[in-house]
Amino acid sequence: MPGIVVVGAQWGDEGKGKATDQLGDRVDYTVRYSGGNNAGHTLVVNGEKYALHLLPSGILNDSVPVIGNGVVVDLDVLFEEIDGLNARGVDTSKLLVSANAHLITEYHQVMDKVTERFLGNRRIGTTGRGIGPAYSDKINRLGIRVQDLFDASILRQKVAAALEQKNHLLVKVYNRRAIDADQVADALLAHAERLRPMVADVTRVLNDALDRDQVVLFEGAQAHHLDVDHGTYPYVTSSNPIAAGACTGSGVGPMRINRVIGIAKAYTTRVGEGPFPTELLDADGDRLRTDGAEFGTTTGRNRRCGWYDALVVEAAATANAFTDIFLTKLDILSGWEKIPVCVAYDINGERTDRLPMSQSDFHHAVPVYEYLDGWKADISGARTFADLPRNTQAYVRRLEELSGARISGIGVGPSREQVVMINDLL
Ligand code: GDP
Ligand code: IMO
Ligand code: MG
Repeated sequence: MPGIVVVGAQWGDEGKGKATDQLGDRVDYTVRYSGGNNAGHTLVVNGEKYALHLLPSGILNDSVPVIGNGVVVDLDVLFEEIDGLNARGVDTSKLLVSANAHLITEYHQVMDKVTERFLGNRRIGTTGRGIGPAYSDKINRLGIRVQDLFDASILRQKVAAALEQKNHLLVKVYNRRAIDADQVADALLAHAERLRPMVADVTRVLNDALDRDQVVLFEGAQAHHLDVDHGTYPYVTSSNPIAAGACTGSGVGPMRINRVIGIAKAYTTRVGEGPFPTELLDADGDRLRTDGAEFGTTTGRNRRCGWYDALVVEAAATANAFTDIFLTKLDILSGWEKIPVCVAYDINGERTDRLPMSQSDFHHAVPVYEYLDGWKADISGARTFADLPRNTQAYVRRLEELSGARISGIGVGPSREQVVMINDLL
């Protein structure tokens, strides 16, 4: 029966990959349901570091890895990632890819870059991977799907149709060269035969698995506050990373999800543009960045760093109905005298303890901090809650009171075994 969703509670890079990996061999299927290779999930397994962008983290355990219909797939990246893992001895032969997933093509990447440049200081700070344009085409009914690879003449027609408008834009508005439709189609078709054995009716496969009482883990990419409907629009990604996205992005009904685990970092980070009330633009922010190695897995950009914002996590807990929170990178906070935690905002002189409805208010939110006692000890060897110093326990308990769900697991280091479990996640 169990359908479990893992969702980022902040702005991404919370450690979702590591949290997914925790469930490891007890999971039968691990499903990516949204986003594409804008994600970057780093896992450390038996001392080996793996960086995954498109494949579900379950590729590193015994589960069947699945790419659902809600994902946008760059085939060059997919096969590069598969080859890289194979070269390191990882078996990827069980991978399934939905026939309904959309493809990212060269023109999506080009459009992503030129539109960002055109926006100037209103840019989103995208990953430049073509994610937004690929989802735009999907919604515009101009997208190319995995199944189109197996009907070359349809594929060529669809690519030509999708490019017609874009080439006008590229040439007349963006002053770029037109893209040749046949070249794009050839590049896509070159992958068709290698992809064919992986293509499946993922909806059927997953529902059958749930009927057999197997465990299906839906691995979110991005995060609640990057969701196109629920995030800090327009500074968001172009998909629905929230828990409900697991249903649309894979074809399982909401009644089949019975656990939603929010992944929250013990402080906050964000990559790209957009509001971030607790951001630290001073030496404290630099210290968090250095201690937490907060540099992007995907684009190598510095992550913006700040204190834990309980309002941000609470909003995610509410809209996703978190049953549990997995708190990551608590080890990075060792060594501070006091640790500020944002418990409310001051917005134009008024105090609120909930995320404001209006985006303008959010841009003007000034954090109200509570200063919790820090701890000096290195906690990376802790394996039970009782192993943690008293002040660390108090920090976790206070976050739990503020954040809208029980904290069931704590990350105390990047490795698979560096974890304190409070409640079983399954
Ligand atoms: P994701 O995108 O949510 O999967 O997160 P990323 O992989 O982009 O970023 C999280 C980073 O923190 C990775 O480098 C992980 O190896 C690392 N990490 C995850 N959990 C912990 C933890 O509890 N402690 C420490 N020190 N690092 C962690
Ligand atoms: P994981 O899964 C952090 C951000 C980008 C940009 C915005 C839109 O590793 O947590 P896009 O390329 O998606 O159109 O960019 O979203 N973004 C992420 N930030 N972690 C991610 O993924 C992200 N995926 C997208 O930086 O601000
Ligand atoms: Mg990441």
